[in-house]
Amino acid sequence: MALPWSEAWRRASTGDGGFWRHEIPSSHFATSTGPVLAQAMVRLLQDVSARIAGGQSAGPAGDGDLDVIDVGAGDGTLLNAMADILEGTELGARCRLRGVDVRPRPPTLRADVEWSEGDAEDLPASGIRGLVMAHEWLDEVPLDIIQRDARGIDRLVLVGEDGREILGDPVPPGDPLAAWAAEWWPLREIGDRAEVGNTRDLAWDRLCASVRIGAVVASDYARYGRGSTLRGYRGGNAVLPVPDGTCNLTADVTIGSCVAATAIRRVSTCTQREALASLGVSGELPDPTTMDGEAYARDLSRAFSARALRAPGGRGAFRWLRADVG
Ligand SMILES: C[S@@+](CC[C@H](N)C(=O)[O-])C[C@H]1O[C@@H](n2cnc3c(N)ncnc32)[C@H](O)[C@@H]1O
Repeated sequence: MALPWSEAWRRASTGDGGFWRHEIPSSHFATSTGPVLAQAMVRLLQDVSARIAGGQSAGPAGDGDLDVIDVGAGDGTLLNAMADILEGTELGARCRLRGVDVRPRPPTLRADVEWSEGDAEDLPASGIRGLVMAHEWLDEVPLDIIQRDARGIDRLVLVGEDGREILGDPVPPGDPLAAWAAEWWPLREIGDRAEVGNTRDLAWDRLCASVRIGAVVASDYARYGRGSTLRGYRGGNAVLPVPDGTCNLTADVTIGSCVAATAIRRVSTCTQREALASLGVSGELPDPTTMDGEAYARDLSRAFSARALRAPGGRGAFRWLRADVG
């Protein structure tokens, strides 16, 4: 049976037998998570902690009073690396690290990191004090597609489990999908398609609303043009986006609509390159004359990882969304 893309995608991704019920991200693609991103996130956490400590309404600082939540935490790589950096520090004693993912608790997760197996929608609706992160998660939030037919009518695209599409009902101008497209991805010609990002807007707004005081950061593939960005990944290769649970489905995020979707006023956006630079990740090569061989090898490897995350035509072009709350 052909379904609207958002429904077919949700079933194929997080539904029973869906892709993420039996797969881990690292089997299919590399993401930005690792020690370098962890270093940047700890730096951001220090800022958040200082702001909370300086706030009037936040209450006194104490053990476990800072939440650090990774939404769509995958195999827990980022949380493990952050916990390694925070171990034995005053800031570390104040943090409760927790991953949220539809996948079960990863066996490699450190014992001091908590895990909630479930949908990101189950996050508390409000009250979090600390840092909420969502790296390469918004592009996973299923969306609908509308297409202008041969008569110039905009219609909902339906898709079967084999990936074959048909055009469904007309989408009237008052419909939320049509309203979103009119503002963020207007259809102009016959055959034009829009990937309607209202579900990502809601997801981002929900993350922002969950925080009472602190910050929310999401980083992702951003949509820049008008062409289709829906694609599949399997085993390291790009494949046709077929909603049958055998590939990861993703589509770029319309960042502007997310920014506009939340009532939080302090929302900023920048490239990953800029965000990492502002958090002290430079990619500068170490000086071999100032350290022993082991330290040099470690710092060199870290510098190359930082350069990969900052590469202007690659991961450095990812877009970060940041909301400062409270
Ligand atoms: C592309 S991976 C990114 C993993 C990790 N953040 C990283 O950057 O390596 C997306 C992750 O989001 C999880 N996920 C997708 N939809 C979700 C949902 N609705 N609720 C919770 N987790 C979800 C998947 O299981 C997967 O682990």
